[in-house]
Amino acid sequence: MKLQSMRAIRFAMGRAVVRAMRCSMGAAILCLLGTTWALGQSANPGAKPKPQLSEEAFKNVQVLRGIPVNEFMGTMGFFSASLSMNCIDCHVKESAGNWARYADDTPLKQTARRMVLMENLINRADFGGVRVVTCYTCHRGFQRPEVTPSLAEEYGPPPMVDPDRVETLPGASDSSAAAEQIIDKFIQAVGGAPQLAKLNAFAAKGTYSGFDTDFHKVPAEIFAKAPDQLTMTEHLAVGASTTTFDGREAWIASADKPVPMILLTGGDLDGARLDADLSFPALLKQDLTKLHTGFPPVTLDGHATQVVEGIAPGGTRVKLFFDKQTGLLVRQARLIDTVVGLIPLHVDYSDYRAVAGVKMPFHWTTTWVDGQSTTELTDVQPNAAVAAEKFVKPAPATSR
Ligand code: HEC
Ligand code: HEC
Repeated sequence: MKLQSMRAIRFAMGRAVVRAMRCSMGAAILCLLGTTWALGQSANPGAKPKPQLSEEAFKNVQVLRGIPVNEFMGTMGFFSASLSMNCIDCHVKESAGNWARYADDTPLKQTARRMVLMENLINRADFGGVRVVTCYTCHRGFQRPEVTPSLAEEYGPPPMVDPDRVETLPGASDSSAAAEQIIDKFIQAVGGAPQLAKLNAFAAKGTYSGFDTDFHKVPAEIFAKAPDQLTMTEHLAVGASTTTFDGREAWIASADKPVPMILLTGGDLDGARLDADLSFPALLKQDLTKLHTGFPPVTLDGHATQVVEGIAPGGTRVKLFFDKQTGLLVRQARLIDTVVGLIPLHVDYSDYRAVAGVKMPFHWTTTWVDGQSTTELTDVQPNAAVAAEKFVKPAPATSR
């Protein structure tokens, strides 16, 4: 793996850069690939199924090699968000609707490759290998970074503080009692632990809409089984898209993705587990460690919230925003790690209704760097008989 990546780096770099890197090669590989590998290996050595890597799935990957497909697609979302560009702004127009054409090179793609290597070199040379400089550090949502300070900005209204930003409070090592109390209040608000224990499973129907449906509502189904299994299917025009978490591993099989079945790793796996945990929140305190609170007050959609931050089993930082009054969860925000930077994702929950004495959100909107989507439930069957096959690795998706 290391050798392959090194070849990729040399291939993609200009000569001057190669020279600059020669002295620090081992560390440069670590910068490029470090975080995910470290996470993947520490979590469960030997027992993990091997994900398909970017260079195995795609035709023309020169720099972002040696990472799982889901993480590779995450880097594309990270680029898009950091530069406010659409996929086909860097790729050829024909790649819209034709995944194979994403392999074609364009001048902007070539520049982006050089930028990845530059990012790693800067972090290595000037910041001790800590990833403090990313595409967003310079680009801040622009295709070309600004060079000159703006007086309009300097004397204009202060920029909004993003409540999703994950902060680390000083001294937060163990879970704090205050944070655990907020989660206990949430468990109480949804019906209490005894009532939750009576909900073994549910089968739900509803609709899904997003960029991938041109915001038309399409049918969606959700199956969940306590304590932590979840599968969600959306019926897109191109074919079904299914995300499954079996209590341990997670997959997405979607006709809308470049690869018809993707094993989820890292922050995406943590996210799948978290979504399952939130369906039966009894496990929440167990799965999130280092729970802490004490963040500045945040109001979301008119709800004053209390914020708890914790760390998921794979290392992903998660913030949960609970309504101060009702105790119900109004947002989860998580930061998914990739080799180029952390991708933010949040889910906003609303329209809580009681199902067999347990309050569940019937409406949620998922927002991340590569699209926004809304799921609305119309019918939830509590304690439905859900077949175990619903939670096994899905078959690769086929396009209609
Ligand atoms: C800032 C430019 C940029 C943007 C925006 C961008 N990409 Fe890429 N994309 C690249 C680069 C660079 C590569 C090649 C990476 C490498 O060689 O390691 C690539 C490679 C790919 C590949 C692999 C193609 C192959 O077969 O080799 C796919 C698929 C892809 N991008 C999809 C997307 C999608 C989907 C989006 C929008 C969410 C997107 N890209 C946005 C720069 C970009
Ligand atoms: C240290 C600052 C810095 C970082 C980090 C950085 N860039 Fe850039 N990038 C620039 C500058 C400056 C330019 C524009 C140069 C110019 O105006 O010709 C640029 C230009 C680009 C361009 C070409 C834009 C155009 O219209 O020609 C792309 C694409 C790009 N960057 C992608 C990325 C990606 C992807 C990342 C993260 C992997 C990244 N950059 C990280 C500073 C940075």
